[in-house]
Amino acid sequence: GFGCAGGQFCAAGGDAGCGDGGDGTRILIKGGTVVNAHRAEEADVYIEDGVVVAVRPNIPVGDDNVRVIDATGKYVMPGGIDPHTHLAMEFMGTVTIDDFFSGHAAALAGGTTMHIDFVIPVNGNLTAGLESYKQKAANAAMDYGFHMAITKWNDEVAREMEVMVKEHGINSFKFFMAYKGSLMVTDDLLLQGLRKCKSLGALAMVHAENGDAVVEGQQRMIDLGITGPEGHALSRPPILEGEATARAIRLANFINTPLYVVHVMSVDAMEEIAKAKREGQRVIGEPVVSGLVLDDSWLWDPDFIVASKYVMSPPIREAGHGKALQAALSSGILQLVGTDHCTFNSTQKAFGSDDFRKIPNGVNGLEERMHIIWDSMVETGKISVTDYVRVTSTECARIFNIYPQKGAVLEGSDADIIILNPERSFVMGAHTHHSRSNTNVYEGRKGKGMVELTISRGRVVWEDGVLNITPGSGRYIRMAPFGYVFDGIEKSDAAYRASLRAPVQRGKAAA
Ligand code: URP
Ligand code: ZN
Ligand code: ZN
Ligand code: ZN
Repeated sequence: GFGCAGGQFCAAGGDAGCGDGGDGTRILIKGGTVVNAHRAEEADVYIEDGVVVAVRPNIPVGDDNVRVIDATGKYVMPGGIDPHTHLAMEFMGTVTIDDFFSGHAAALAGGTTMHIDFVIPVNGNLTAGLESYKQKAANAAMDYGFHMAITKWNDEVAREMEVMVKEHGINSFKFFMAYKGSLMVTDDLLLQGLRKCKSLGALAMVHAENGDAVVEGQQRMIDLGITGPEGHALSRPPILEGEATARAIRLANFINTPLYVVHVMSVDAMEEIAKAKREGQRVIGEPVVSGLVLDDSWLWDPDFIVASKYVMSPPIREAGHGKALQAALSSGILQLVGTDHCTFNSTQKAFGSDDFRKIPNGVNGLEERMHIIWDSMVETGKISVTDYVRVTSTECARIFNIYPQKGAVLEGSDADIIILNPERSFVMGAHTHHSRSNTNVYEGRKGKGMVELTISRGRVVWEDGVLNITPGSGRYIRMAPFGYVFDGIEKSDAAYRASLRAPVQRGKAAA
């Protein structure tokens, strides 16, 4: 097992839910519209020692040691929670340019106060992977949690999964169906993993692309002499995402366990999720900001530095897919928005200047997500303000079983709060962002709605365009297994078993 001396990652290390956030800071946010996923109301919010103490109208100002913030005409909302990031990730021969500190700076400046990152095992070893990510996260400036990837299978891995869930606060495991030769798993491994996830009450997540076919598609492009960034998209078309999504959904159905499909980038994948949901299956679909608002035309830009920054997997699709994904998000087919923030600067992207297969995959988004979703979905009337809170924060907290500590502005919730001014505008770009990358896929993008102030665990960390953050202040958030998506699974298993043992009744039902 994992020989650790306790501490924040250890079950023996005490209740991580009761942090040491209390530094005596007291804040009263007055006059704003407080938005939770279940309703919006005119109310004040009183915060003490990192926790929301009261949410109601007309809270009296009281003594001088309370900082009063005027939120008149503004929205007071739970800070964003990004379910999908890769900070300090070793990938494709390099390391992402954003680590936990610069990533958190970007996040907080953009109104995101928590994220869940993917621990990558070391040579398939989960314990070594967690150890490595604990070190990477030592300079964290906001709260974070971990998913964990499963990249090989044996009895030791199965045992370690149990240790991760029971001792280390991890309640989700990701299976990559692509990246052949590095992270990719076989169907056999996926089945074993789904079964183990189910028994642990951990959510299985999939990167759904057919990795064998991707290799075939890549060779096809190289044979045609297509070596530029556009070859990336051409080599792994939507059909390969649709196929893998359908396959993962059917295997999860066969095991009867919930499935979370990360970075849904195409109509093809989205339609498979819609179909499964219609049939009553528990499938969660996560679109990412790049997939919702960008299209693949950038990959044909003659400037390699421009084109290569859009290379991610699954690829950003042709115009039309994004609109369909937005509609699916509005109607609940897709449930929550991530970023897949995985940044490489132009020097790193240049590793693939003569072969798209060597361009490190990934785009930015951690700083931009809250603004882009507000501007493209709320400002356009596609979703309500309460749905905005749901898809950017609350749904993530509920799925990963940390609600209402996170994902809500309620009495007792962590004071992770943003104040958004709907009248202000934003402009995005590499010259003003907080990521360490020298490029930004949203370069020059303008829109309405501005996160003017971010509070992380009761401290104002972003205000008037200024960050005030401390490396090492971020807390690891433990996530317990058997979240709401598992509720009822046992009953449906029992019903299934009963149906197998009642062949006569079956025959009668058919007759
Ligand atoms: O291109 C991407 N998405 N890079 C990050 C790794 C992954 O597949 O999520
Ligand atoms: Zn431990
Ligand atoms: Zn992925
Ligand atoms: Zn990812």
